[in-house]
Amino acid sequence: MDYVFILLGLSFAWILVRELMSLRRNKSSKRLAPGPFPLPIIGNLHLLGDQPHKSLAQLAKVHGPIMNLKFGQINTVVISSSVLAKEVMQKQDLTFSNRCVPDALRACNHYDFSVLWLPVNHDSRWRTLRKIMNSNIFSGNKLDVSEHLRTKKIQELIDFCHKSANNGEAVDIGRAAFRTSLNLLSNTIFSKDLSDPFSDSAKEFKDLVWNIMVEIGKPNLVDYFPFLEKIDPQGIRRRMTDHFTKILDLMSGLIDERLKERKMRNYANVDVLDALLNISPEELDRNHIEHMCLDLFAAGTDTTSNTLEWAMAELLQNPHILEKAQEELAQMIGRGKLVDEADIAQLPYLRCIVKETLRIHPQAPFLIPRKVEDDVELCGYIVPKDSKVLVNVWAIGRDSVLWENPLVFKPERFWESEIDVRGRDFELIPFGAGRRICPGLPLAIRMIPVALGSLLNTLNWKLQGGIAPKDLDMEEKFGITVAKAQPLLAIPIPL
Ligand code: HEM
Repeated sequence: MDYVFILLGLSFAWILVRELMSLRRNKSSKRLAPGPFPLPIIGNLHLLGDQPHKSLAQLAKVHGPIMNLKFGQINTVVISSSVLAKEVMQKQDLTFSNRCVPDALRACNHYDFSVLWLPVNHDSRWRTLRKIMNSNIFSGNKLDVSEHLRTKKIQELIDFCHKSANNGEAVDIGRAAFRTSLNLLSNTIFSKDLSDPFSDSAKEFKDLVWNIMVEIGKPNLVDYFPFLEKIDPQGIRRRMTDHFTKILDLMSGLIDERLKERKMRNYANVDVLDALLNISPEELDRNHIEHMCLDLFAAGTDTTSNTLEWAMAELLQNPHILEKAQEELAQMIGRGKLVDEADIAQLPYLRCIVKETLRIHPQAPFLIPRKVEDDVELCGYIVPKDSKVLVNVWAIGRDSVLWENPLVFKPERFWESEIDVRGRDFELIPFGAGRRICPGLPLAIRMIPVALGSLLNTLNWKLQGGIAPKDLDMEEKFGITVAKAQPLLAIPIPL
């Protein structure tokens, strides 16, 4: 134990000397972007707090839309304006397209197989994986084929809410949405439920995905002091290795099962797993398929379910908007019906509500952090080699230069506006932009309005415990995504 402390002490002393030397160097190389003065060893870590997206938005008001900070040993550049976001993700997209890989994602060497973390340059594997995803999973045709499976899952969500309504019980919207998102994804990929409260293995799967999200969301010392990598002081990589091993085993079991089914006569192959197996092993080996499935669940579940929970929370806090949405639904598809994916085109107000939710509650407030491989010049400043680059989408969505009354939830702001979330309008980039834009966007913008519209069109809703709309707690909890700090408990009322 003493030995570990001596080692840690020596390492910190070494960092301190390096920090002081680099401070002297940086003073003379005047072109770093402005930012708060870094303390020895920790740099600016003490300024992050437990809501880093908010702390960094505040700092940007003092230091400007491009800031240079030091978190532990990691130089970090924070972008907080739509103009600079466009520069980074459109004009200099390739330079800023690689990722800064969190240590937790090194568990089971996941980063080396994963579309989320593979580098764009020097390696064509990322490109191959993106192409395979776009054509085999997220193309309009492919998504149309699996729509009926998703409709069934939405029906089950509504049945569950009706049951709660009949018992006069509140629904924990976030939990119900999480289960539904998992099943929407698992049906899209495997034509199968992986979250069923009555089955042990399915419950285990839900807990696994949940635990992975919790673990990735924890601040990890190793990400600020990479020399601690071997020690893994918080045990995050160790626990992630357990979770990943279990989930990859589960995926492997599902693949074995499918390979057997495919040998049967008259087997009609239809879903994503079949499409991936059809091109395997030539274009995609089995290892990559397992890791790709893991990526899809990790990237697609929380993001979708949190967005749904926030949308419901905003509507329950703003009953006039909820009523207006219900009127549109009643008029366009008829009260009491489920919303189909094809209906979305006729529901402009519902689409405005989803956009407004994504503006004010972007699920990846810094996108997924990028990294530069060499010194790069950005708007007259140097972004030093190996810097982490955060685009504060949360701050951009609340920028009063871009948005009138930015803190007010007002879907009408999109009514006559062409602004969209597809990565062309840099004032609204909840899915990112450029090469690394979220490939799941086409699925997300089907699932969210369908689930939200169906909840609104088949039931009425009120807050549990007689809470007045204006008193609803809207605090955020920062993690890998931004969840509601207090779960939204709402009582469904039959029509
Ligand atoms: C509300 C829902 C969602 C939001 C807000 C969201 C947001 C994002 C963001 C911000 C990024 C990083 C983009 C960048 O760096 O520029 C991303 C990447 C990604 N998303 Fe999503 N996402 C959502 C749903 C989904 C779904 C449903 C899936 C798949 C089933 C998915 C799969 C991915 C993948 C694989 C990446 C990594 C792409 C790459 O690095 O090349 N996402 N998402």
